[in-house]
Amino acid sequence: MKKVYLVGFMGSGKSAIGKRLSNLLDMPFYDMDTVIAQQTGMTIPQIFETYGEEGFREMETTFLHTFRDEYCIIATGGGVAMRKENREIMRRTGLVFYLNSTFRDIWRRISTDTNRPIVQRSTKSELEALFNKRKPLYLQSAHFKVETANRSLKEITQYIA
Ligand code: S3P
Repeated sequence: MKKVYLVGFMGSGKSAIGKRLSNLLDMPFYDMDTVIAQQTGMTIPQIFETYGEEGFREMETTFLHTFRDEYCIIATGGGVAMRKENREIMRRTGLVFYLNSTFRDIWRRISTDTNRPIVQRSTKSELEALFNKRKPLYLQSAHFKVETANRSLKEITQYIA
């Protein structure tokens, strides 16, 4: 059994759906950000502050290269699909599901967040531009596109399962 990767923009529900999927399918669940934070002993904002965004992106790629648990569900960080190398690793080592949301839903979920440096430093229109820029990259990485608008977490989880 391969890995299951969940990709999508910040606030698209990757972690919430990953946890539910993990319970439903009885597969271990890992949140990339959480694993990286545990490995470094730092929060994501601290990593961005200390090593810069590029440093964090390197950590994401290292995670994808080195993470060994074969049978698991991984909620990736929203920027993972930006690197071609990352997209290729995910497609090669697992099944990739892109959780597609509307920017309107995303903004409602992330606008008040303090743990996401990209949100902290961006305006709403900058985030919307990033959302549109990344969309084709999520699609390139994904084997399956999952529509999340107007569907409950339970419905989305059952659909993926
Ligand atoms: C990021 C998304 C975050 C986290 C970091 C950068 C991004 O993950 O990896 O703040 O560039 O979109 P989530 O998608 O889980 O919020």
